[in-house]
Amino acid sequence: MNEFYQKDIISIKDFNQEQLEKIFASTNKIISLNPSNRREICQGKTLGYLFYEPSTRTRLSFDAAMASIGGNSLGISDISSSSTQKGESLADTVEIMSIYSDVLVLRHTLDGSSRFAAEVSDKPVINAGSGTEEHPTQAIQDLFTIKKEKKKIDGLKIGIVGDLKYGRTVYSLLYGLGNYDVAVHLISPESLRIRSDSVYEIKKRLDFTESTNIEEYIDELDVLYVTRIQKERFPDEEEYLKVKGSYIVGLDLLKKMKDDCTIMHPLPRIDEISPEVDKTKNAKYFKQAEYGKYTRASLLGLTLNENGF
Ligand code: CP
Repeated sequence: MNEFYQKDIISIKDFNQEQLEKIFASTNKIISLNPSNRREICQGKTLGYLFYEPSTRTRLSFDAAMASIGGNSLGISDISSSSTQKGESLADTVEIMSIYSDVLVLRHTLDGSSRFAAEVSDKPVINAGSGTEEHPTQAIQDLFTIKKEKKKIDGLKIGIVGDLKYGRTVYSLLYGLGNYDVAVHLISPESLRIRSDSVYEIKKRLDFTESTNIEEYIDELDVLYVTRIQKERFPDEEEYLKVKGSYIVGLDLLKKMKDDCTIMHPLPRIDEISPEVDKTKNAKYFKQAEYGKYTRASLLGLTLNENGF
């Protein structure tokens, strides 16, 4: 049996390198299949999504991924139009969505929400972002992007810059990178350093250095992963205003980087990468978003087919 069949995807910590590599291989297979063969993978299957927070890429890429492999999607993208407004609990909403679908995709404001949903649901649950905790399918997409663009992950020097305190993609990426032999350099304002309660867990998996100065190691990096300052997660707007615009990757900074440094961003971006960078060969954030459709199609195909595809 395919080991991912009916498996919840709650945390990237639940995946080892061998499993990640299997997902990457399946993703490459998805990319190489012609559209009619692709549509046979999840024919007749339904994805149900519940988004308690806004999303463009994650929801649409799951939707597009499911359509590309022959399935269909239904769900709630605007929770204000759902019976949550009448006081319906997350547990009941998940229970109902599990009746109507074969796999459930959940984005929620609370850490632990997806694990809770997985306990309630008899269908596999995929975490599409849980509070500030994790965004595991983003990490799979990010690792796949690195592998595609750099042809390897081991041996790379990777800089991660921006909001390392509230950015859930950062935590999932760091846990995922822990499966590989990489050197990680973290760059953030002092107030947005990696959360102290996660440092022990991350240090168990990989070595990293920390700095407030983006230029410190910029000429050594193979990958620069830029993140947005997460305004909506600051308890105090004054604190946000102190760090807003701390780092802007523009053409001046690009000149100081390795010629083949790959610039990534989970998106959305606000002002942390200047638009003039978009046209350079280093900018891979839109490609990264495209890979998100293929990695999610691969995950859905593996989750819903007992013998894989
Ligand atoms: N990267 C990401 O999670 O984007 P969305 O918030 O638009 O889904």
